[in-house]
Amino acid sequence: MTFAQSQSALDHAGVGSESIAELFWVMLIGGTLIWLIVVGLAVYAIVVPGEHDQKKTRMLVIGGGAVFPTIVLTALLTYGLAMLPELQRPAPEGSQVIEVSGVRWWWRVNYRMPDGKNIETANEIHLPVNEPVEFKLKSEDVIHAFWIPSLGGKVDMMPGRENRLKLHPTRVGVFRGVCAEYCGEAHTQMAFDVIVQSREEFDEWLRQQASPAVSGSDVAEAGREVFEAAGCGACHAIRGTSADGVVGPDLTHFGSRRSIGASVLPNNADNLTRWIKETHRVKPGVEMPAFETLADDELRSLVRYLGELK
Ligand code: CUA
Repeated sequence: MTFAQSQSALDHAGVGSESIAELFWVMLIGGTLIWLIVVGLAVYAIVVPGEHDQKKTRMLVIGGGAVFPTIVLTALLTYGLAMLPELQRPAPEGSQVIEVSGVRWWWRVNYRMPDGKNIETANEIHLPVNEPVEFKLKSEDVIHAFWIPSLGGKVDMMPGRENRLKLHPTRVGVFRGVCAEYCGEAHTQMAFDVIVQSREEFDEWLRQQASPAVSGSDVAEAGREVFEAAGCGACHAIRGTSADGVVGPDLTHFGSRRSIGASVLPNNADNLTRWIKETHRVKPGVEMPAFETLADDELRSLVRYLGELK
């Protein structure tokens, strides 16, 4: 698996982003044509010397300065507004509901299940392809903005308010989502991975995410003890263990995620070791303290344990 992901509104892979990209191209091409005409006229006025016909000049000023912009801007406004109802329509009843909260500087993700259950994860969102999904967007501190450029438009996440967004991915792939509202020191390192997959793969992923953590090897077991002793469970939850902190990301299936630190580093043992030891160098401003005092073997088993949480 590579770390490369698409993060471009023009590389569209969703119903919403398709119309946004179309709007962009229409505006760009239209704007370029008008710019060429205006510059052409300006050049003409400079290079052709002598008196210009007064009547034609007046026609040009009224036509080009008032009539033409009025028609063009009215047409553009109508064209743009006509897209809004479809972009704002909620996902149909029965669609998957995903609640995402912006937290400085990561994402709390909750899959609301039809049976009332709730599956919490963080910094990674999986979506079934060709199905509309309803997002409920919140913030736990300051204003953030939720944006997956390849899938749709961006929506603010406000403290004390719930905003909504429907996304409808049309292509399988890995995309990058970002925080699109300046929210403090680590704003640029507040990103997430979006994996659009088939219904079967998505169901399998959900089933696995719903299960409690499975501990593996003996080394990993030693790592679980380090996790407990170092007090990691005060901030992080690992379902099925005594760790039930809610301040930081849920780590129940941390090992299954693509990245570390809200899409800052690819998820592998070396990067995780760096993350735990030099947290503030990797992501200045992060709330998690660096655990520099852990012995090498403690760190090794802790990394092994977290990596095995698949
Ligand atoms: Cu959160 Cu910028």
